[in-house]
Amino acid sequence: MTYEEAKEKLARAGQEHLLRYYSELDDAGRERLLAQIETLDLSLLDLIRDGVKEVPKGSLAPLGALTLEEIEEKKEYYEKKGADAIRSGKVGAVLLAGGQGTRLGLDKPKGMLNVGVTRELFLFEQLVNNLMQVVDRTGQWVPLFVMTSEKNYDDTTAFFKEHDYFGYKQEYIFFFVQKMAPSVSYDGRIYMEGKDKLSASPNGNGGWFSSMIDAGLLDKIHELGVEWLNVFAVDNVLQKIADPVFVGATMDAGCVCGAKVVAKADPNERVGVLCLEDGRPSIVEYYEMTDEMIHSRDENGKLLYNYGVILNYLFEVKTLVKIADEYMPVHVVEKKIPYMDENASLVSPGEPNGYKFETLVLDMIHLTDNCLSFEVDREKEFAPIKNRTGVDSLESARELMKKNGIAI
Ligand code: UTP
Repeated sequence: MTYEEAKEKLARAGQEHLLRYYSELDDAGRERLLAQIETLDLSLLDLIRDGVKEVPKGSLAPLGALTLEEIEEKKEYYEKKGADAIRSGKVGAVLLAGGQGTRLGLDKPKGMLNVGVTRELFLFEQLVNNLMQVVDRTGQWVPLFVMTSEKNYDDTTAFFKEHDYFGYKQEYIFFFVQKMAPSVSYDGRIYMEGKDKLSASPNGNGGWFSSMIDAGLLDKIHELGVEWLNVFAVDNVLQKIADPVFVGATMDAGCVCGAKVVAKADPNERVGVLCLEDGRPSIVEYYEMTDEMIHSRDENGKLLYNYGVILNYLFEVKTLVKIADEYMPVHVVEKKIPYMDENASLVSPGEPNGYKFETLVLDMIHLTDNCLSFEVDREKEFAPIKNRTGVDSLESARELMKKNGIAI
């Protein structure tokens, strides 16, 4: 793209300030800047033009779950079915580690967090340990795909290497990079991070499968014979990965997808709830629910919208391929965005100062025909680390790890 073309593209969206330092840049800097402007998706700005609007939901109805008791009754059967699938190489795992963990305030990948107390135990390490249990049980290495972002790819891959992949077999770990989206101020001006650099952040965890395709990993999936992918977040230190019981139950139910869920701790818990939307599986966020939905109970006194998702999903690969090009809603999220000020110095704000654009993996659920809602015990499988202290924190996760007999 030439300077003139860039200027014209930006002028249409009122973003000419991005070329303010062009004349000061050397040739390489100019090229870098023009390349970013060329791929810039300015249509995202339409999402905030007249205030931020969330995507309206269709008609919602509750969805139950395969409960802990029901799972316990058929545990052996499910486990065998799942373990057989794993043994024949049909199951892979996808670690979503492209996020920035701004709430935790780390300046490195979240997985590098030391969750140990008396010893070093990194988040990445504990996740690998969790997966290793399945490898030990089945005698099969489960391919582990790790999504990073442009911002943390180098640190993440170096960290795994430095720690000898935490004992995992290196040939079964595949790193890939997700796409970026521009970050903007509240009044819709795209921030700059440097004179030749637009401010951009990872575009959410919803693009993981298309990023895998872009990275050429679909060929690898086919080559390995992987038919199911278990996608999970980096920050739930207790979660089971490629859990044979979950895999077996999803297959047994004839579903194309499964979601691990926990019963809500209280009606107002801030979790997305698995439900039906226009007859298809979907996730309704806590802020999208009416008071009536939040408090309605069935004849046994159980909440109708009871099962919160924990970002641990199993998808059939065939279905993922089918839905790969379908439209995913883009969410506008308020975040703290480092930016270059009027004097060209970099500012790291203490409070949110603008918007990022993200697609979310939970929206993929609604693109599938059916989804098994699979209940897990939160005390055993749900310890997300979002903050330093308080709810969903390093502190609370450490408590739960101790309860589960993990030496920290
Ligand atoms: P979160 O919603 O907790 O976002 O991600 P985050 O960026 O890690 O943290 P905050 O909101 O800035 O504090 C849930 C999961 O999705 C991954 C994260 O790494 C985490 O595993 N994720 C999130 C991505 O892989 N890419 C993204 O663009 C965003």
